[in-house]
Amino acid sequence: MIRFEGITKRYDQQTVVSDISFEIEKGELVVIIGPSGCGKTTLLKIVNRLIRPTGGRVYINGADTAAQDEIELRRNMGYVIQQTGLFPHMTVRENIEIIPRLKRVNRADIEARSAELMRMVGLDPEQFLDRYPSQLSGGQQQRVGVARAFACDPEVILMDEPFSALDPLTRVQLQDELADLQARVRKTIVFVTHDMDEAVKIADRICLIHEGGIVQYDTVEDVMKHPANEFVADFIGRNRIWSSPAFIRARDIMIQNPVCASADTTVMRCIERMRTRKVDSLLITGENMHMLGIVSAKEVQTCADRSVPVSRVMRRQFEKVSPDENIVEVLQIVNRGGLSAVPVLDEAGDVVGLITRSSLLMTLSRPYLDEMEAATS
Ligand SMILES: Nc1ncnc2c1ncn2[C@@H]1O[C@H](COP(=O)(O)OP(=O)(O)OP(=O)(O)O)[C@@H](O)[C@H]1O
Ligand SMILES: [Mg+2]
Repeated sequence: MIRFEGITKRYDQQTVVSDISFEIEKGELVVIIGPSGCGKTTLLKIVNRLIRPTGGRVYINGADTAAQDEIELRRNMGYVIQQTGLFPHMTVRENIEIIPRLKRVNRADIEARSAELMRMVGLDPEQFLDRYPSQLSGGQQQRVGVARAFACDPEVILMDEPFSALDPLTRVQLQDELADLQARVRKTIVFVTHDMDEAVKIADRICLIHEGGIVQYDTVEDVMKHPANEFVADFIGRNRIWSSPAFIRARDIMIQNPVCASADTTVMRCIERMRTRKVDSLLITGENMHMLGIVSAKEVQTCADRSVPVSRVMRRQFEKVSPDENIVEVLQIVNRGGLSAVPVLDEAGDVVGLITRSSLLMTLSRPYLDEMEAATS
């Protein structure tokens, strides 16, 4: 959808963007992130040609943007900046409608659309459309800025730190709203920020820039789990993954070789095994580690005849989770069933691991523990 090919920008001798190539897919929200001065705004402005690159090309839907009329190009792209960019001497309505009117869209359609856009960003059209920007709070102005960017229903929307001047509460609220909105309308959005929390919240993919070059371009999850280098690790904060439980999967915290027994093992032997391995439940498996059932220490100990195969006493109905399930979901399953452990099974139903209640609690309390450590050291 948007393809950067060898984009370079130099001012005199200084190279501020250096040979950047990457692709953004249609309907994707990509966050460009990096320290101040790394070239984020420059890169964004090269997309709508407010800045001309020294070298390289940007293609949108396969068409070279350099070959297009730049005014036309900009009209077909939403653009939101930190200072909202609203025209102070125009009402909210006039601000939102300026581009659709320039495009000579039918008047009734424009009016219906303005009201719809206002509702979309959580503002009452009746109350706000005829006010001037100065009669709105910062957060409300920013919402109008977002509404205006969507006004001509562009395929591409560029946002340059649109929420950074807002108080933290309003900011989080607008991030949530943008994420909801994007889930509905699926525009191709390039969003610049230097706030990792913001990126984590809204991004499909993150493009991390350092000194004018890309250091990592990946999904949020992969950036957090596999930072490309020390710079990335430091930038995102090493322990961030642990404070975002939704990104931790069952496979990340499971025990990989849980204690198992085959179905024909006697109850006696099962008791022995649990005792020597110090576990309070046993996974009963068939061929290729296929999970057949589970028994707890209590269930085998209260079994009258200990010479029978464990398949007679095991539970064949049991809770299970998949390796990709996030640990918030796992915790819900464990809590709901009052379980002390839950097996992790692959699609075929074969055992790949086990998650114990205590390992879950350890994981979830880890950010807290780190803080304690930091506070006491
Ligand atoms: N017109 C210009 N002439 C010379 N240098 C410039 C010009 N515009 C930007 N730069 C330099 O290019 C570099 C990148 O600037 P850019 O605005 O893209 O950074 P940024 O990543 O958006 O930073 P911030 O997070 O502070 O907004 C900076 O070092 C800046 O000083
Ligand atoms: Mg900038």
